[in-house]
Amino acid sequence: ADVHYHNFVVQETPVKRLCKTHKVITVNGQLPGPTIEVREGDTLEIDVVNRARYNVTIHWHGVRQWRTAWADGPEFVTQCPIRPGGSYKYRFTIEGQVGTLWWHAHSSWLRATVYGALIIHPKENSSYPFTNPQREVPILLGEWWNANPIKVVRAATRTGAAPNISDALTINGQPGDFFNCSSEDTTTIPVKAGETNLLRFINAALNTEMFVAIANHKMTVVGVDASYTKPFTTSVLLLGPGQTTDVLVTTDQPAASYYIAARAYASTQGAPFDNTTTTAILEYDCGCSSPPGQAAQPFLPTLPAYNDTGAVTAFTTGLRSLSAVKIPEPVDENLFFTVGLGLFDCPKGKRCGGPNGTRFGASMNNISFVLPSSFSLLQAHQQGISGVFTTDFPAVPPVQFDYTAKNISRALWQPIAATKLYKLKFGSVVQVVLQGTNIFGAEHHPIHIHGYDFYILAEGFGNFNAKKDTAKFNLVDPPRRNTVGVPVNGWAVIRFVANNPGVWLVHCHLEVHITWGLAMAFLVENGLGELQSLEPPPADLPVC
Ligand code: C2O
Repeated sequence: ADVHYHNFVVQETPVKRLCKTHKVITVNGQLPGPTIEVREGDTLEIDVVNRARYNVTIHWHGVRQWRTAWADGPEFVTQCPIRPGGSYKYRFTIEGQVGTLWWHAHSSWLRATVYGALIIHPKENSSYPFTNPQREVPILLGEWWNANPIKVVRAATRTGAAPNISDALTINGQPGDFFNCSSEDTTTIPVKAGETNLLRFINAALNTEMFVAIANHKMTVVGVDASYTKPFTTSVLLLGPGQTTDVLVTTDQPAASYYIAARAYASTQGAPFDNTTTTAILEYDCGCSSPPGQAAQPFLPTLPAYNDTGAVTAFTTGLRSLSAVKIPEPVDENLFFTVGLGLFDCPKGKRCGGPNGTRFGASMNNISFVLPSSFSLLQAHQQGISGVFTTDFPAVPPVQFDYTAKNISRALWQPIAATKLYKLKFGSVVQVVLQGTNIFGAEHHPIHIHGYDFYILAEGFGNFNAKKDTAKFNLVDPPRRNTVGVPVNGWAVIRFVANNPGVWLVHCHLEVHITWGLAMAFLVENGLGELQSLEPPPADLPVC
């Protein structure tokens, strides 16, 4: 196994998008940021130097960080932020994961422009469980904001209103042909006829779940979130922010140009969303070079309508682990978390921008998560500093949520703002029912757990019913992911073994929802002996 060294300089960079030059925060001046490529078993050492005027941290999304929670990155959870002028070296090893992950800033809304791909190839002398592709291409879906995203979220937080939406969706940082002043920079992927290409899709957008399709081409899904899946052929993908999907695409069509297009899946009726379509071009090398600017218009794929939940279900139910799985049993911790939006009263003497003069909030089990500011949670835990958090996060909601009820108890929609963790014994088998609520807006929530992959045993609509729905669990080949889309007006059940000590954030990967508090954290205790314990903190760990 190798050690890879990288230097990430976080800096302000002028970039031109949608006809204007804007100064945005990038890593090494690149948007998207640099792609990191490793083999399973390799170690990464990434020196992050902060030359910007904002605090920053970097999170390695989906990396297990086994015993190295100090390198996980969420601000005030596993570390204090890297201040302007400061630096921190992230050091970790990739174990038991092959495929596509990514990295992004985990501080305010900086990840709008601070993100990149993390590609994990198989170990030397081992290969993919599918046709070896001739070409491998990372494809990062994102959002472009004309305004500074940090200012967007600050303005919204001041009044409790919903923040503005993005101005364009992007593929590898570019909006594509349907936007003003953009077509010269549209992402183009050159291919040859008769090849098999591995396209590695990553949804890096802040707030947009996306459908993706390629004109005239089918895609065979072979992996999600750096876990192999049974090959599954589809014409549409759905990726929530945080999720990755690896697909094989065979270039078996007449030599021409074909659009890869992405557009929002926005299940909420009435709420504003970025309704633009971003495109890249899959361009066959046909030896028929037309003069620049005169190429024939590429073919356009059909994408589902923005509210086509049926298309989402068809995609997610097609995902299965490649091989039979040994499901962790028996369950030691049977947890039930509601996920959804709520409303806070407006503080006395203030004017608030939420519905009917309230402030938007969001919660799990009606606890709206608050980050500490003087210590990171992990540091407070490891050093026994009291007063930073409590460990009384409820295992079940205060009252059972019920879609059929006429009146929803206040205890489910007026959240309590607090820093509450749930403690797990090392090695315990944890099952969580994630029950979406639709108290203020029905939404599909991409829920991400740091430090773990989990099996998705079942998903469904309406109220989760333990008696009836347990019978539907896939205990044979459930997909393994780090981010699960909890269906709109529905639920998902996940299971994992708590064998990675540390403090691990659990949150909705729609950035607006984590901003409103749709998060909690697990505190996983050390087990016996060194190999079941968290490593000591690095000497250069930033302090608050
Ligand atoms: Cu991809 Cu908490 O993040």
